[in-house]
Amino acid sequence: MRLAFLADIHGNWPALEAVCTELERLQPDTVIVNGDLINAVPFSAQVIDYIRSSDWVVVRGNHEFYYLNYGSERDVPESHDRERWGQLHWLVDHLSPEQGSYLATLPDDLTLYFPHTQPIRVAHGVPGHNRRGFYVDQPDDEIVPAIQHVEQSTLISAHSHVQIDRHLSTANLHADGLVGNQHLASLWNSGQQHPRQWHLVNPGSVGIPLNGDVRAQFAILENRSADTRDGGWKTTFYRVPYDRRSALDSYTSSGMLEEGGIISELFYWELVTAELEVPFFFQWAQERFPNLDRQLRDAFAAYKVATGRDDYIRKRDPLYTDAG
Ligand SMILES: [Fe+2]
Ligand SMILES: [Fe+2]
Repeated sequence: MRLAFLADIHGNWPALEAVCTELERLQPDTVIVNGDLINAVPFSAQVIDYIRSSDWVVVRGNHEFYYLNYGSERDVPESHDRERWGQLHWLVDHLSPEQGSYLATLPDDLTLYFPHTQPIRVAHGVPGHNRRGFYVDQPDDEIVPAIQHVEQSTLISAHSHVQIDRHLSTANLHADGLVGNQHLASLWNSGQQHPRQWHLVNPGSVGIPLNGDVRAQFAILENRSADTRDGGWKTTFYRVPYDRRSALDSYTSSGMLEEGGIISELFYWELVTAELEVPFFFQWAQERFPNLDRQLRDAFAAYKVATGRDDYIRKRDPLYTDAG
């Protein structure tokens, strides 16, 4: 049994197309998409239509909720403000009610039970929290408390846009971090008597990887003996090169960059570099601009001057480097 896990496609149709060609070659038994199908790159509608017409299994991510919450009581405050939320407005204007209904019916997490091996839990972050992301070098003491409610020994997460294949155990928690942290201390105590372990996998991002590698990324899990340390599943990561120029060019040709403003431009930067930009900008700006929602343009102009990031991006942008 070979399962392909895709995540964080983020409307990047050219990247998904390249992954589909690779899947044709690899012929997995099942394809599972672990959330964030839409938003950030302008082909969200095409991505939904392709996945709807496939037999792929799909879990919802936090970006689906930006769309689904819009105009409801769950909406973010001030979302009617086109200056601040233009990216979301563009997305709402470019998805049909049928595409929205499809997103509305997706599950938030699921469990796969294949015979003769251990079950796999799939959630965009962790079950119950779709914005919980994990990283390659993150200490076990941070991850274990966040996943200790997961009963299954294998958890497929996503959201952080980096490929992860880690083994965690309550037996390996460090005693030093336990003082003053009762929750961690009780986990550590129980781990000494009845250790629990997890295999945590993030397949990486198809559409906007953030591990410094611009290729479209995914993973295949293959079952092996159920009693192995892997929880019965061996991970193989894939990184597929593709031509990013049509995706980058679509920001302008679709009108998303103009309507989406600074948020769209930050997504564009992340697509160019495969480096985290959005949270860095907001952290930098919040420290300097007390009324950031009203000063977003000024803050972004100041950010460019202070960091030189726009120059850094342009030097790596295939639309400029190829032309130059
Ligand atoms: Fe994402
Ligand atoms: Fe996400």
